Amino acid sequence: MPPMMPQADRRGLAVRLAERIAREGPLDFAEFMRACLYDPDAGYYAAGSSPFGAGGDFITAPELTPLFGRSLARLLAPALKRLRRPLLRELGPGSGALIAALLPALEALEALPERVELVEPSRARREEQRARLAALPASLAARLVWTERPELTTAEGVVVANEVLDALPVRRFLLSEEGLFALAVDFDGRRFRWRPVPADSALARAVEDLLARLPEPLPRPYTSELCPGLADFLRIALAGIEKGAALFIDYGYPRREYYHPLRRMGTLVAHRGHRPSPDPLSDPGAQDLSAFVDFSALAEALEALDWAPVGFLSQAECLIGAGLLEELAALPARGGEYHAAAAAVKRLILPGEMGERFRVLLAAREMSAPFPQWPGAAAGLERL
Ligand SMILES: C[S@@+](CC[C@H](N)C(=O)[O-])C[C@H]1O[C@@H](n2cnc3c(N)ncnc32)[C@H](O)[C@@H]1O
Repeated sequence: MPPMMPQADRRGLAVRLAERIAREGPLDFAEFMRACLYDPDAGYYAAGSSPFGAGGDFITAPELTPLFGRSLARLLAPALKRLRRPLLRELGPGSGALIAALLPALEALEALPERVELVEPSRARREEQRARLAALPASLAARLVWTERPELTTAEGVVVANEVLDALPVRRFLLSEEGLFALAVDFDGRRFRWRPVPADSALARAVEDLLARLPEPLPRPYTSELCPGLADFLRIALAGIEKGAALFIDYGYPRREYYHPLRRMGTLVAHRGHRPSPDPLSDPGAQDLSAFVDFSALAEALEALDWAPVGFLSQAECLIGAGLLEELAALPARGGEYHAAAAAVKRLILPGEMGERFRVLLAAREMSAPFPQWPGAAAGLERL
């Protein structure tokens, strides 16, 4: 009897994935994740309604409060003022909330970039961003340009990415007593299931390289992730910027914490309706999939592209250093706006919330001290 396929009318993506697996055999998880997030017709980020904010599946820092963007404006203003006709490039701008807060604040700090490039592969998200940013004053809106892929023309500029690297497809591996396996995705006629398959040579090399860099051997069985597309993503994301600064904010760890012997099930998470969802393989395209970021790998990939990591901090350290609390104090103390902002600030900086789990990597190219707020930020790089 042929396997029972999911209903095509409701679950076109699941049907296509199941058919592909029936034809080609188990699908590497990175391919499955890419389809779930970015399939042009049904991918989580590519298709229809917005996943961001209270009505979506998760709330990111810029969605929580405009004070996040205003603090980043304070952080980026010194570098933007020193650059010639600067470009501000945001990778994966989501709903547009960060730019909506950042640009007016940069204007107030007299550090407006000449051009603002929003790099967004998804058409639905680009439309969402356009609608949101239409509310900006015309003098600011005129600076915005959208692109699926950054332009190669050379420029001086600043690059910002909040919660983008965690959305890059990852490969999953299993180290067991029997050897190294790739965790692929199979379809049993009813559900998608994990299927270990012998590691191919690219995965074997990558895991061997990883193990050589860890301070202690990993226990077995041990499952985790690698992001093979990181270097390519950065090469494209930073293209054309010959002088400037970059800021990556995400949940993640330095390598030795990421691949800690106790973290035996990796960092892959699925989210739906503001809750972690138990099965990352269920309902392709209907739930968010993400993995924590290996900040040591990020720093090395930046160095390989001639970008120098200049600081590594927790989100709390970064935002407090940038002036988040001063931004809060500047709000009228009695209004509802103040109370909402104070609650959001707590979420951004408390260690049990986003304050410690989210980390910030600062980088520079051909520019000394682009972030003068943290003369000591480079000390954090020793942890990578
Ligand atoms: C978790 S959301 C974060 C959105 C936003 N930065 C925020 O903080 O609210 C990830 C975003 O990255 C975008 N994205 C995914 N791959 C990308 C790529 N290769 N280049 C630029 N953006 C990408 C997705 O479309 C999505 O808008």
